[in-house]
Amino acid sequence: MLQIPELLAPAGDLERLRYAVCYGADAVYCALPEFGMRAAPANFTPEQLAEGVVYAHARGRKVYLTLNTLPTNEEAARMPDAIREAAAAGVDAFIAHELPELRRHDLAVIANISGNTPEEYGVMCEKLSAAGVDMIEVNISCPNVKAGGLAYGTRPELAAEVTHMAKSHSTVPVMVKLSPNVTDITEIARAVADAGADALSLINTLRGMRIDVRTRRPILKMNTGGLSGPAVLPVAVRMVWEVSCAVPGLPILGMGGVAKGEDAAQLMLAGAAAVAVGTACFADPYTPVKVRDGLKELAQAQGLESIAQLTGGVRPW
Ligand SMILES: Cc1cc2nc3c(=O)[nH]c(=O)nc-3n(C[C@H](O)[C@H](O)[C@H](O)COP(=O)(O)O)c2cc1C
Repeated sequence: MLQIPELLAPAGDLERLRYAVCYGADAVYCALPEFGMRAAPANFTPEQLAEGVVYAHARGRKVYLTLNTLPTNEEAARMPDAIREAAAAGVDAFIAHELPELRRHDLAVIANISGNTPEEYGVMCEKLSAAGVDMIEVNISCPNVKAGGLAYGTRPELAAEVTHMAKSHSTVPVMVKLSPNVTDITEIARAVADAGADALSLINTLRGMRIDVRTRRPILKMNTGGLSGPAVLPVAVRMVWEVSCAVPGLPILGMGGVAKGEDAAQLMLAGAAAVAVGTACFADPYTPVKVRDGLKELAQAQGLESIAQLTGGVRPW
């Protein structure tokens, strides 16, 4: 059954489409420029519309197209192709459209990948290695369709299989991102390390659920979803510490609830060699800069020569 999206936003051009998606539209609708919209033309070329479709799909949003009159044969031949190709492009679209933009900055590019089968991970690793990303981060918190939808990150053997697949199809370092939704994260970390991971990152989101008590409906359409942000920091610190003890020597990228330098310092003291910021960027896109500056200040105040000296410095009771 067709479900009406919660928020359907009009998108008259590519910039507005990006805005609508960024600011939370569940779907956007666009009038096709060459499909009879000459009276009120939308400012999309076929290529821009294709780019917009890729952009929205990559973020899990839908694009609806409104057709006011029938296209000419020539228009019909061009437009559906552009849209079909764009929608199916996936990693190819990232390499074609987003990677060049990222490469304009003097920064390392780490590509995060998710797949539904080990083979999908392999294909993505091959393409991304060839495209020249600096590192691949393998998200194993997604369901394996061949194993009845079980998340790879919840079983050591599945996690190892994906790691092996990624490593054997990559020419750049592979970092595996662990799920916190497990009883013992150290057994997954060991399996992934034995399968050849070059680094580990953790934590991904914790499974959560909220319910609207008036309607008795879960807040999220999928009923449950990923919890992130400040609430998860203590879980992340604990897991980074456990993993760093279980697989000493393997670099860890710590994340989960970091919003300031002191949060990042906790993850580093627990064993992380580097720290990532996710959710806090939604509230303030400058958070990573502030976290970096906060870390510098903290290291200076403690008389350290570099931030790196924090790594593994916890003094457990
Ligand atoms: C909106 C959103 C989208 C996310 N998408 C991905 C993803 O595509 N792949 C992934 O490995 N982790 C993903 N994560 C998890 C984050 O990268 C991060 O591991 C987690 O949110 C904890 O860090 P934080 O509290 O700083 O956000 C996502 C998190 C959020 C909130």
